[in-house]
Amino acid sequence: MAFDLDMIRKVYGSMGARIEAARKSVNKPLTLTEKILYSHLWAGDATQAYERGVTYVDFAPDRVAMQDATAQMALLQFMQAGRPKVAVPSTVHCDHLIQAKIGADQDLATANTTNKEVYDFLSSVSNKYGLGFWKPGAGIIHQVVLENYAFPGGMMIGTDSHTPNAGGLGMVAIGVGGADACDVMAGFAWELKFPKLIGVKLTGKLSGWTAAKDVILKVAGILTVKGGTGYIVEYFGEGARSMSATGKATICNMGAEIGATTSIFGYDEKSEAYLRGTKRAEIADLANEVAAHLTGDEEVYNNPEAYFDQVIEINLSELEPHINGPFTPDLAWPISKFAQAVKEHNWPAKLDVGLIGSCTNSSYEDITRAASLAQQAIDKKLIAKSEYTVTPGSELVRYTVERDGYLDTFEKIGGVVLANACGPCIGQWARHGADLQEKNSIITSFNRNFAKRADGNPNTHAFVASPEMVTALAIAGSLTFNPLTDSLINEDGQEVRLDEPQGLEMPTLGYAVEDAGYQAPAIDGSTVEVLVDQRSSRLQLLAPFPVWEGTDLTGLKLLIKAKGKCTTDHISMAGPWLKFRGHLDNISNNMLIGAINYFNDTPDHVKNQVTGEYGPVPATQRAYKAAGIGTIVVGDENYGEGSSREHAAMEPRHLGVRVILVKSFARIHETNLKKQGMLGITFADPKDYDKVRENDTVDVKGLTEFTPGKPLTVVLHHDDGTEDSFDVNHTYNEQQIEWFKAGAALNIIRMKQEQH
Ligand code: F3S
Repeated sequence: MAFDLDMIRKVYGSMGARIEAARKSVNKPLTLTEKILYSHLWAGDATQAYERGVTYVDFAPDRVAMQDATAQMALLQFMQAGRPKVAVPSTVHCDHLIQAKIGADQDLATANTTNKEVYDFLSSVSNKYGLGFWKPGAGIIHQVVLENYAFPGGMMIGTDSHTPNAGGLGMVAIGVGGADACDVMAGFAWELKFPKLIGVKLTGKLSGWTAAKDVILKVAGILTVKGGTGYIVEYFGEGARSMSATGKATICNMGAEIGATTSIFGYDEKSEAYLRGTKRAEIADLANEVAAHLTGDEEVYNNPEAYFDQVIEINLSELEPHINGPFTPDLAWPISKFAQAVKEHNWPAKLDVGLIGSCTNSSYEDITRAASLAQQAIDKKLIAKSEYTVTPGSELVRYTVERDGYLDTFEKIGGVVLANACGPCIGQWARHGADLQEKNSIITSFNRNFAKRADGNPNTHAFVASPEMVTALAIAGSLTFNPLTDSLINEDGQEVRLDEPQGLEMPTLGYAVEDAGYQAPAIDGSTVEVLVDQRSSRLQLLAPFPVWEGTDLTGLKLLIKAKGKCTTDHISMAGPWLKFRGHLDNISNNMLIGAINYFNDTPDHVKNQVTGEYGPVPATQRAYKAAGIGTIVVGDENYGEGSSREHAAMEPRHLGVRVILVKSFARIHETNLKKQGMLGITFADPKDYDKVRENDTVDVKGLTEFTPGKPLTVVLHHDDGTEDSFDVNHTYNEQQIEWFKAGAALNIIRMKQEQH
């Protein structure tokens, strides 16, 4: 049994009292989201109401899930904590590193060779520290989580932006960076700004060509890619209850496309059926006992405007199938208007490839509905005009749909079944001809369709739709085909129509699998060795960062005064560097290479004050480090905005930068710096930024009395012998000052472990 029943019992056991305490504090009926958040407070029972969109709150998530790309640094860091096991149930899923090229078997074999060192590391580190490990080919993180770990009323974090997929089964599931995952596994609280709430009331019932996917395609059109930022979206109403659990998961998955923190549905008969269908009857029984806690209060849903910050209503009976795109998922077109839009915008009407599956849309229901169209194509003598691929979300789904004959049906219309992995959805698609960079159209049942996302070609116009719509259009080979109204000409020259798709929510014979691809961890991992090849360029064990020397920091050389925007991408560039994300020293060769040097308006070109020569930032910093000279980085407003990428904080720490002094920080990056034991400070008067000169040597004073709320002092020694001295602020609390002194937050946990 992969899931942790005791943990779920514990969550449900305390939920009633915690919701009561929350009700008293908030003093009004509660949404489902509030019930779950308030019952996962790090501090236990609520003693106050948190202001939505304002207050930062510490939470205690029940689980952590990580995909193979982000898990590497998270787990390398976790090893620094010195804990024998992870603090909460956690899993690793090998899905991102498999490239789709020929077909499932060959592509998987290639990935197993190319990524061997990464897989060996993830497998052995999981085995040692008590994490469940899902091997390459086992499936895509979100589908595997939905089938095995998601449970109503739970809270989890996952190192992937589509973690909210688990909201389809009533879980608050939030996408985070590897550093957050590491913290929770190491036993720290997880902080989140208490979200605002959007309520989506669903009335009516889906029918005909319309699928769950169309709900989120419609919502994306209403809210746009930014409309959900800072919000949790809670769906409710008779329409919600009528949809399958996997359909709900599709909607929650794509909530990421509107920027939502997460999305969620309440527990209902469909959730219960899915839990039982996926062999988790024990959880369904437990959930039934606390069902009232697993949905919002009735008063809330009767009068949503009074309890949500924003309310949207959608009538499923009137909802048209949608196609969204190109290049952005919020450009929403009802099918009746799409053909016209294609013509007006001069998008390539010829459809080259239709791709179904992925973490977003590869449920049994999705596959059977799409297969019903493929079967019609066979029966009605239609030849599919576009290429067509199928990416199953998990081995459980793949095995079951193969057993039930659906993969065969797809193959008969020329479909290629790809590995149970992200593949084209994350750009891991060696698409033949993509290098020609021609203008072309593809349609997918995935979630994202930004330029270059699928095949790296900026001229690929990618559209997103339900699997059934993708299949119909792939059969027609045209973007302007509307299966609701148009007919096609078959091999015999006859005009034929596609009937509405038919499918099954769950397999009549039940789900089946021969080898799900799961590796349970060792019960006692103390003797398990973590496998890291010393010669690896992709992985490197971390050494603890050194503790603070106990004195002020003096004689620091200015490494770079960054001008203007300096995001985490400027600090630690992505793209080709991502292959080194498990190797801190190698990835540090991208440190600040995107930042613009204030003194010459050029990126990656700074002065080495010792030699007087100009060179790349990483090489210059390495030279300082070799000479035992500490350095300081100066930056502008909102330094470190962008992603939560922990490398942006770890790289300067690793290469010996001591201080980051900026006009202001992006909050997550500031916290990441603190966790890594860096000193992140801000100009008390932003105009002091102008006083920093290229040949400055810098002192930071006041560290021996480092206290919350008390400014420090910076002294700039200019090369003409003059000096400037001014106050700088910091936001370190008592605990964060301890992190600084210990050299890193994880060092503290390790020291405590060692004392035991
Ligand atoms: Fe993400 Fe797509 Fe994989 S959304 S988890 S890349 S299947």
